[in-house]
Parts: sequence; structure tokens; C-alpha cells
Amino acid sequence: MMPETTTTTSPICAENYRFLKEYVYRESGIVLDDDKHYLLEARLLPIVQQSHLASLDALCTALRNHGDPPLHKRVVEAMTTHETLFFRDIAPFDALKTEILPPLIEQRKTTRKLTFWSAAASSGQEAYSLGMLLLEMGLSGWNIQILGTDLSDQILARAREGRYLQIEVNRGLPANYLLKHFERRGLDWQIKDHLRNMVRFEQFDLRKSMRTKGPFDIIFCRNVLIYFDVETKKKILQELRGALFPGGYLILGGSESTLNLDNEFRRVPAGRTVFYQAP
Ligand SMILES: C[S@@+](CC[C@H](N)C(=O)[O-])C[C@H]1O[C@@H](n2cnc3c(N)ncnc32)[C@H](O)[C@@H]1O
Repeated sequence: MMPETTTTTSPICAENYRFLKEYVYRESGIVLDDDKHYLLEARLLPIVQQSHLASLDALCTALRNHGDPPLHKRVVEAMTTHETLFFRDIAPFDALKTEILPPLIEQRKTTRKLTFWSAAASSGQEAYSLGMLLLEMGLSGWNIQILGTDLSDQILARAREGRYLQIEVNRGLPANYLLKHFERRGLDWQIKDHLRNMVRFEQFDLRKSMRTKGPFDIIFCRNVLIYFDVETKKKILQELRGALFPGGYLILGGSESTLNLDNEFRRVPAGRTVFYQAP
């Protein structure tokens, strides 16, 4: 039986904040600002309680002692933001449909093959949104390959399962897409197999070499670069460029760009957004 412990909610000491900050950086590349104590406490206190530890400082001691690999994983998971939604920031999907994909489809009409990568896929909504868009554009007979990757095994398990809460399908998913591509499972919605089978999910750390990935026609790498430092961003952009076909496109998040990070990508305004084209 576990010994009784009383969890304290006293603030974490400065030395342990530094330790956790370095720890999260080493494991994920995510940079925590020096004033994110509240965030760290809110996210890690549940782990402290579930692990029957006395405090956040006790959690740091456990991490320092390297004893418990699942605990290490849970800490990184807890410090990662997985926020996503179907057809997030709709502009890139509109631009794909009206401007980017039509010439690409024409170009590939003999091979009928297109390759896509959702490079920080979270629970899968981005990759499945793309799948729905491609089906809507009449590409069901094509060889469509969509890869979804993420650092987190836990979130990828959700992505593979493709089962979403009502509140998740209420955010961004048009009603006709819901009826066509999902079915009811109790209170949830399950992606139908025809869509689920279009996407393959695997674990991948964006800080690793991408030499074995691709080449892709289009890469989504959205709302993840914001968490990294400049050197990490530069390295990832360079690797992403190498994973694209010449002329392939990178799509970044609304608040992200290649400015001052990578001069090789060509900035291509498309509809209400911007794509980044590899040379
Ligand atoms: C905010 S979500 C973005 C999801 C989706 N791209 C979107 O824009 O809606 C960021 C995702 O990046 C993942 N991530 C964080 N660090 C990573 C790393 N070093 N390698 C790969 N994925 C990472 C997180 O696990 C999380 O699921």
C-alpha cells in the first residue's frame, strides 16, 4: 500500500523551476519563460497528487533520481500544449482548395499521387481535415498519403483512434462533413474508416533529422514553432525544406513565419494567408 502523503500547493522553489525548465527543454525543445510558474504548477500538480508525492519539489527530486520513466513522460506530456481543432484558421484550407491544389492536381494527373505531412498533428484534427478536403475535391481514387506525427505517444493514440467529443466536432467542422465522415459512438463521434485509413500516424520529434521523411508535396507545421528558441526554429525549417519536393509548400501557423529564420523559402500569398515554397 502507498504511504499516506499530504500534497502541498506551496510555490516551487527557484532552483527546481530552473530544473523543470531545463528538463522540458531537453526533452521537447519547448522553452518555458521565466514567469510561467502558474502554468507549471497548474499542469504538474495533478501529477504530484496522482503519484502520491508531497509537493512539486518532491516531484523534482523523483525526476532527478531518474527512477520512474513513466513519470518523466507524464511531465513532458503535461507541459505540452495540444490545442487543435478541425479546419483550424480555415484560410489555409480555403487557399489549398482554390489556389494551391488545382495546379498541383493538374501537374500530377498521370501519377495521381500526392503526399502530405501534418508535422505536429496533436489529436489528428489537422490531418483528418485535410483528408476530408481532398475527398471533397474528388481525389478519392488517387494515391493520397497523409502522415501525421507528434512528439507525444499519448496524443497520437487519440489521433489514431479518431474518436472525438461533441464539443470537439462543434469546433470548426461543417455539419455536412460530420454526417459524411463520422458516426455516433455513445456521446462521441467516431471517424469512419474511409477517412481514418487515409492517415498514418507515427511518433516523431521535430528536432530530429528529417532525411528519412518525404519528399512531401505539402507540409503543415502549425502552432508548434512558437514554443521553440530561434536556433531550434532555424534547424527545423531547414529540415522541413529538405523534406519537401522542389516547389512543395510549407504551411505555418497564423503567428509564425520564416522571417529572419530561413531565407530559402519563397513567400507565396495565397487567398487570406501565406504559404512558403521550397526552391
Ligand atoms: C498546439 S499543438 C498544434 C496542433 C496542430 N498543428 C494545430 O495547429 O492545430 C502543438 C503540438 O506540437 C507537439 N510538439 C511539441 N514539441 C514537439 C517536438 N519537439 N516534436 C514534435 N512535436 C512536438 C505537441 O505534442 C502538440 O501536440
